[in-house]
Amino acid sequence: MKRIVVTGGAGFIGSNFVRYMLEAYPELEIVTFDKLTYAGNLDNLKDVDEARHTFIQGDIADKAAIKAAMEGCDAIANFAAGSHVDRSIMGADDFIATNVTGVYNICEAARELGTPRVLLVSTDEVYGSIDEGSFTEASPPRPGNPYSASKAGGELIALAHFNTFGTPIIITRGSNTYGPYQYPEKVLPLFVTNALDDEPLPLYSGGENNVRDWLYVEDHCRGIDTALRKGRPGEIYNIAGGNERRNMVLTRKILELTGKGEELIQFVKDRPGHDRRYSIDAAKLKALGWAPRMDWDEGMALTVRWYRDNEWWWRKIKTGEFLEYYRKQYHER
Ligand code: NAD
Ligand code: DAU
Repeated sequence: MKRIVVTGGAGFIGSNFVRYMLEAYPELEIVTFDKLTYAGNLDNLKDVDEARHTFIQGDIADKAAIKAAMEGCDAIANFAAGSHVDRSIMGADDFIATNVTGVYNICEAARELGTPRVLLVSTDEVYGSIDEGSFTEASPPRPGNPYSASKAGGELIALAHFNTFGTPIIITRGSNTYGPYQYPEKVLPLFVTNALDDEPLPLYSGGENNVRDWLYVEDHCRGIDTALRKGRPGEIYNIAGGNERRNMVLTRKILELTGKGEELIQFVKDRPGHDRRYSIDAAKLKALGWAPRMDWDEGMALTVRWYRDNEWWWRKIKTGEFLEYYRKQYHER
């Protein structure tokens, strides 16, 4: 592969993927195509090699624009999405435009241009919650909120595209991802940056009930790269961190690493339709040679240190639009 298009490459996982791929493949050229929504941020790509990286501001819901960007590429990896569950509960129009229509546009452009490989980044949330055991790729999707339903909708369109037209779609379903450059609306960077400022950590539902499986962002990127290069078109691959933790355990870890006390924990009203536990089995991707490498304690220490050392990055974000969202999401709760 010589040239790949990364949609949503100015977001959290997308920007880590761009950096990872440019470092892993010295001949590779990347075109990042991103709408720069509230979550897109060119600061995330500040340190990438400009000689092999081009940025285009554009919307995947605009078919002509995404098709023009994809012309002549060897592959596309789509990270562009509305990605936050709480925002999708406030209103899901943008989620449907990007996560369903945008994905359809990518499939159509790939069919028309003959793009050799189309990797769609999806989520373990499409399975919904599981009380015991883990979902495999054969488990049916049962999404439980507007975000995950829109992601499942995009997946179904794409799989039907493969079935009908042979478009070479590969889907990955990653678990909860953490690391540098994550927009501070998600629980981990929100709690870390709030704790550093001695602000309350708004924990839903007592924190003891809900379980997430934490995946370090570089492990997620390597998993996507493995599926992109070695995966079979028409197939789905789970990418699991193997670190299931109750939200209270995560919160206490953040307090320990920031040197703060439990008085910062503030129990707030639950998220409507809150999925209790996510758990997926990644044996299928492991059979292609991937395995997560980051130990949870080490990944958490690295991540908290990154936010501590990079206030320039998150202080700019926690202003304006963010404060407006925060007020709606938490003060009126
Ligand atoms: P993010 O919100 O940090 O980034 C999303 C990026 O997409 C932003 O740069 C934004 O500007 C861009 N974007 C949004 N709508 C667009 C549009 N219509 N056209 C072009 N660009 C657009 O999200 P993230 O956490 O990095 O997630 C990336 C992908 O990974 C998403 O598809 C998400 O569903 C999936 N995923 C995320 C996690 C996680 O824990 N964060 C886990 C599994 C899967
Ligand atoms: O599982 C993969 C998914 O993980 C991705 O597809 C999504 O894009 C990503 O946002 C994430 O979804 P979650 O809903 O699991 O992540 P979030 O960080 O919003 O919440 C994690 C847990 O923390 C969840 O149980 C809700 C809880 N929470 C979250 C926030 C924002 C709180 O208790 N308080 C909060 O303020």
